[in-house]
Amino acid sequence: MKKENRFLMETKFKEIIGVIGAGTMGAGIAQVAAQSGHRVVLSDTNPQQLQFAQAQIEKSLGRLVEKGKITTEKSNEIVNNLNYTTQLSEHSEASLVIEAIVENLAIKHQVFQQLEQAVSPKCILASNTSSLSIASIGACLADPSRFLGIHFFNPATLMPLVEVIPGVATAVQHIEQIEQLITAWNKSVVVCKDTPGFIVNRVARPFYGEALRIYEEGMADFATIDWAMTHIGGFRMGPFTLMDFIGNDINYTVTETVFAAFYFDPRFKPSFTQKRHMEAGFLGKKTNRGFYNYADPSNIQAPTEDYELGKQIFERILVLLINEAADAVFMQVASAQAIDLAMTKGVNYPKGLLAWADELGSDWVLERLEMLFAEYGEDRYRPNPLLRKMARNQSKFIL
Ligand SMILES: NC(=O)c1ccc[n+]([C@@H]2O[C@H](COP(=O)([O-])OP(=O)(O)OC[C@H]3O[C@@H](n4cnc5c(N)ncnc54)[C@H](O)[C@@H]3O)[C@@H](O)[C@H]2O)c1
Repeated sequence: MKKENRFLMETKFKEIIGVIGAGTMGAGIAQVAAQSGHRVVLSDTNPQQLQFAQAQIEKSLGRLVEKGKITTEKSNEIVNNLNYTTQLSEHSEASLVIEAIVENLAIKHQVFQQLEQAVSPKCILASNTSSLSIASIGACLADPSRFLGIHFFNPATLMPLVEVIPGVATAVQHIEQIEQLITAWNKSVVVCKDTPGFIVNRVARPFYGEALRIYEEGMADFATIDWAMTHIGGFRMGPFTLMDFIGNDINYTVTETVFAAFYFDPRFKPSFTQKRHMEAGFLGKKTNRGFYNYADPSNIQAPTEDYELGKQIFERILVLLINEAADAVFMQVASAQAIDLAMTKGVNYPKGLLAWADELGSDWVLERLEMLFAEYGEDRYRPNPLLRKMARNQSKFIL
């Protein structure tokens, strides 16, 4: 008989979920848990941040009521389910505590060591970290077997994907419990290995990196590359529009962190163009200027709508993305299905990259990568061994 999930059973009794850090991510995660019927304790050392988070959550619930997505009664119930505190000790009754504080290993260690003293031995502990390893955070705990990564995307209330990342020390039963719990919160869950960037932040790198490289080579300008990816590729946003939306500071830092964490594998090499934009303060939408100048939209360059050029750009970026997805399967980061789910739900790709490879044929993808590799002689274009094998055997990633 299938084991009953402790959280699902406890949800009926409004079991408590703790969230530490009431910033962008913590507030969103707290709202998601409260909307799923849990009592939630949201803590932060900064009382103003707690007030701000409360106001943001209540505003967001108000909008859901206005749109008819939830009733006023439901909204009141969610509001009553949320408790705000500056005291870590208030997490003592929680079954799960998710940490979403500043991305700093030493500070996370301090918080988890205190937290471990405050909670029951059965309480599962998790971090929402984007770039630190789960092993490195969990190492500070007396019992790291109850620790894992639960990585939500921004905004947590809207983004349907959650990556669940067990560390080397995590007990198997906790992975299953958390998978079931987060699925019950109406999220799509993918389980992945504790490797840099997890799935999405690793596999998506060529979407930005190769677009920047194409620009740097002078093959096309920002607008033309964006046009190729949206109009020919069917992506919702072009790479430069997306980098401006994310912020060049954030996007560059993720690339630099992933590059360093992969022992400087040239596949992940950051771009000077993006670094210079960041250094100049051209961070994107938030500073009104990034790759595009939003202060003067009349100045935004029109794309060169040359279909042949657009197709070359799109195919070059796509085959690199597929190669990265194949590498993640090859290195057992996650299953092919999980990787496709992650890229469609986490970054809204129009198709799963591996289903796309199946549709185009691995031999077609391989041929293009080999042409790039022969032309440039650079490791960033080196075809993955799994892709070679798939092409040789004419097999498919998604069965
Ligand atoms: N912002 C994103 O897009 C995003 C996406 C996924 C994951 N993450 C990860 O989530 C975590 C939080 O990111 P964020 O963007 O929400 O940060 P944020 O800066 O918006 O919020 C961090 C909050 O933590 C609080 N804090 C700092 N030290 C604390 C402590 N010792 N105890 C309690 N509270 C403390 C701060 O007061 C602040 O309110 C990071 O690990 C980040 O890598 C961020």
